[in-house]
Amino acid sequence: MTATKLKTLLGVCAALLLHSVLHSAVAAEEEPGCLDCHKAEADSSVHSIFGTVHGTLLGGGATSCTACHGPSEAHDRRGKKAPPDISFGPQWPSDANTRNASCQGCHDNEDLLLWTGSAHQQEDLTCNDCHSAHQPDTQTIGGEASQQLCLNCHTQVRAELHLPSRHPIVERKTACVDCHNPHGGTGEADLHQVTLNDNCFSCHQDKRGPFLWEHPPAAEDCALCHRPHGSVNEPLLNARGPALCQQCHAAAFHPSVPYGSESLSGGTSSQNILGKNCMNCHSQVHGSNHPSGARLTR
Ligand code: HEC
Ligand code: HEC
Ligand code: HEC
Ligand code: HEC
Ligand code: HEC
Ligand code: HEC
Ligand code: HEC
Ligand code: HEC
Ligand code: HEC
Ligand code: HEC
Repeated sequence: MTATKLKTLLGVCAALLLHSVLHSAVAAEEEPGCLDCHKAEADSSVHSIFGTVHGTLLGGGATSCTACHGPSEAHDRRGKKAPPDISFGPQWPSDANTRNASCQGCHDNEDLLLWTGSAHQQEDLTCNDCHSAHQPDTQTIGGEASQQLCLNCHTQVRAELHLPSRHPIVERKTACVDCHNPHGGTGEADLHQVTLNDNCFSCHQDKRGPFLWEHPPAAEDCALCHRPHGSVNEPLLNARGPALCQQCHAAAFHPSVPYGSESLSGGTSSQNILGKNCMNCHSQVHGSNHPSGARLTR
């Protein structure tokens, strides 16, 4: 068991203990009547919570309902006529902060501490946009299920996943949550790592270096040349061949002329043009460790 898990578990135990003390004081009165009205036959999707860990909260049974929906005494007495303290809808949805706070009372591990300020929090998403607290199969959403969930909203990314060059996400070798934390991040794009390069290095270690001859843009930001999800240019490049390099090397030592036939005057074309792609000669575009690799050619 990891330290965080242990911490969470201890936290939950403490919460349960505290509650059972409070609860036994009230227990003399009575258990909430939630299940008198929300009966198994009528509300079977509500009762499916008893097949999940959430159905055992605060001792289980009707008391578990109050863990997320609050004591809801008025609603408990008057049903239809008064809303529960905290609701996730459909009739009386509480605001996003109230809903999220209900879950975060128990779920405040490292990942979830990043929630405040995350892109999703700022867009007023709620925990139950992605998690169904009542249904067993959607409590842990990994792999395919989580990807579909993300793509429902991120249609732009959906399109990128089918471009000719792409990270193998539809092929299921990588997933959105391998790179992104849906609960937030400390750097850009809610990545698990602080910098974009550190994200890439977590799987492409050979690109980290250190190199004897660095190529500054690679050390600075992989996204200067690559797209993270997909691209029309192999391999995940922003632009094709010479054009990619010419964004920065327009006035290079050997003129990086456009590669059309107009530059082939009288058949005495430069060998650099015949070489076509800069990478044919400058193959070590991420950096070189060869003693004479200063020009990234070896
Ligand atoms: C872990 C938190 C949690 C617990 C515990 C919980 N609920 Fe919920 N409840 C939710 C969330 C979140 C929703 C929104 C729908 C969903 O995500 O499944 C919801 C939805 C509902 C709804 C509306 C369902 C609909 O679609 O009409 C009812 C009714 C309800 N809960 C009753 C209960 C009752 C009764 C209990 C106790 C047996 C209970 N809940 C326990 C979190 C919880
Ligand atoms: C007297 C009957 C009754 C009792 C007791 C009762 N409910 Fe309800 N509850 C209802 C009815 C009826 C609705 C549906 C309201 C509607 O859609 O018009 C409802 C709806 C809900 C909803 C959905 C709210 C929404 O925004 O749509 C939740 C959550 C809920 N109840 C939780 C609870 C919890 C938790 C308890 C126990 C503390 C409880 N109920 C006790 C009758 C009851
Ligand atoms: C009273 C405490 C409590 C509340 C409130 C609560 N949970 Fe949980 N939840 C737990 C416990 C305990 C577990 C099982 C241990 C664990 O995995 O952390 C759990 C498990 C989960 C899991 C599965 C984690 C896994 O690794 O399998 C998800 C997802 C989850 N809860 C989401 C929610 C959401 C969403 C809400 C609010 C609607 C919520 N929880 C409210 C206590 C709570
Ligand atoms: C945009 C969708 C999304 C939202 C919003 C979201 N989650 Fe999650 N959550 C996920 C996904 C996907 C996973 C599985 C992550 C993985 O497999 O690495 C997850 C995992 C979890 C887990 C289990 C693993 C862990 O990190 O402990 C818990 C608990 C959890 N979420 C709670 C919450 C709570 C509480 C909220 C609201 C504050 C919330 N989530 C909001 C998508 C979401
Ligand atoms: C209910 C809709 C919804 C779902 C589901 C959803 N997102 Fe988002 N997400 C948004 C919105 C809205 C934004 C903010 C606008 C934008 O950047 O597209 C956003 C932003 C983001 C960002 C940009 C962060 C930034 O700082 O620019 C990332 C990354 C992201 N989501 C990843 C995910 C992943 C991964 C999943 C699945 C686990 C997911 N989203 C599921 C609605 C959603
Ligand atoms: C290999 C890592 C990786 C994977 C897998 C990945 N992303 Fe990203 N994503 C990134 C990086 C890196 C950025 C930041 C791009 C930038 O700033 O140039 C990003 C940016 C985003 C953004 C912000 C808007 C944008 O397009 O720049 C969203 C939304 C997003 N990703 C959603 C997703 C979704 C949904 C999935 C799964 C289908 C996914 N990502 C899979 C690395 C990844
Ligand atoms: C979670 C792991 C993971 C992360 C993080 C990751 N990649 Fe990848 N990447 C892969 C896998 C898996 C492949 C496919 C390798 C294969 O099939 O042999 C791949 C392939 C590639 C390719 C070659 C694509 C092709 O068509 O041949 C490039 C370029 C690439 N990644 C760049 C990046 C960049 C840039 C980043 C950071 C934004 C990054 N990767 C982050 C897992 C990852
Ligand atoms: C100056 C532009 C540029 C930058 C910046 C750049 N790359 Fe590349 N990358 C390329 C080119 C061009 C290729 C194709 C090389 C070839 O075809 O020989 C490539 C290929 C790749 C490949 C697939 C082939 C292989 O060598 O494994 C991966 C993975 C990759 N890059 C990862 C990264 C990572 C990670 C970063 C950031 C540290 C990065 N790249 C930064 C231009 C760049
Ligand atoms: C985002 C800008 C950028 C891009 C794109 C870029 N480079 Fe560079 N490159 C640089 C910078 C900055 C230097 C360092 C120049 C210096 O030290 O004077 C450099 C250095 C070099 C050098 C070593 C030259 C020297 O003077 O030491 C070569 C060779 C080179 N780049 C080739 C390429 C090739 C080939 C591509 C295309 C795959 C490319 N570059 C794309 C910015 C870029
Ligand atoms: C046919 C092989 C070849 C091709 C193709 C080629 N180069 Fe070069 N390049 C070289 C060699 C060899 C040197 C080193 C010359 C020297 O050190 O005297 C060099 C040097 C450079 C330098 C360093 C210039 C300086 O000021 O020292 C840059 C930058 C560069 N090339 C960029 C590019 C770009 C961009 C392209 C594509 C448009 C390209 N090269 C295509 C062979 C090539």
